Amino acid sequence: MRKVLRSDKGSTVPLEPSRWRARPTPEEEHVLGQVEGPVLDVGCGPGRHVLALARMGVPALGIDISPLAVSIARGRGAEVLQRCVFRPLPLQGAWRTVLLLDGNIGIGGCPSTLLRRTGQLLAHGGRVLVEVDPPGTPTGKMRVRVEHGSVRGPWFPWARVAATRLPRIAETAGLAVSAVWESGGRWFARLDRHPVGGGRAHARRRHGDVHAARGSGPGADDWALALAEGA
Ligand SMILES: C[S@@+](CC[C@H](N)C(=O)[O-])C[C@H]1O[C@@H](n2cnc3c(N)ncnc32)[C@H](O)[C@@H]1O
Repeated sequence: MRKVLRSDKGSTVPLEPSRWRARPTPEEEHVLGQVEGPVLDVGCGPGRHVLALARMGVPALGIDISPLAVSIARGRGAEVLQRCVFRPLPLQGAWRTVLLLDGNIGIGGCPSTLLRRTGQLLAHGGRVLVEVDPPGTPTGKMRVRVEHGSVRGPWFPWARVAATRLPRIAETAGLAVSAVWESGGRWFARLDRHPVGGGRAHARRRHGDVHAARGSGPGADDWALALAEGA
């Protein structure tokens, strides 16, 4: 029986937890080829991108709110912290690249809040490499839960963003879309921090929003059912 992510709007998306423990796919390798270190992988799961970057000699840290994800990632030798992206993090304002891969633009349920937060984390000239949905697919906020047959996880806020809707959302966060590409049937984008402190000023102005985001305190494990092996 397959694991799925069900939304309260009625859609289901198949989950591929085995992918999270495997090596990066060719399209993900292409994304990793565009990083500059140090790299922060937000919602790193079992840490495959952090491990791949370490093999490439790029300094990288993964963060994940899930104790299970962090314990799996550490067991594999990945450098990770159990943290919520909306809480204080090391090297704030000094990361050259932030990764939001495999649907992680949905973290917290409000993409513009998440992108404002990533803007705070980035160094001047830094970039976000983000996976999005294909152009023309629905964009919006929703509640989702992980399901595995009759076993159901808790509902939690999530969001999806189509490639075509990204520029407007990025703009509200002081970020600019500099590239969008399709690879292996998946869609990715590169966002750059506006020069002359645009992103930082924006992020400061909207600081309250960031703390208003749910950001479920450390210990939240909405994804545990998806991450658990054989569950
Ligand atoms: C789709 S899975 C990650 C897959 C991983 N990026 C990969 O490609 O292998 C989403 C991850 O985001 C984590 N997450 C959710 N909310 C978070 C938050 N507020 N801060 C940090 N991580 C979070 C979840 O615990 C989960 O491990």
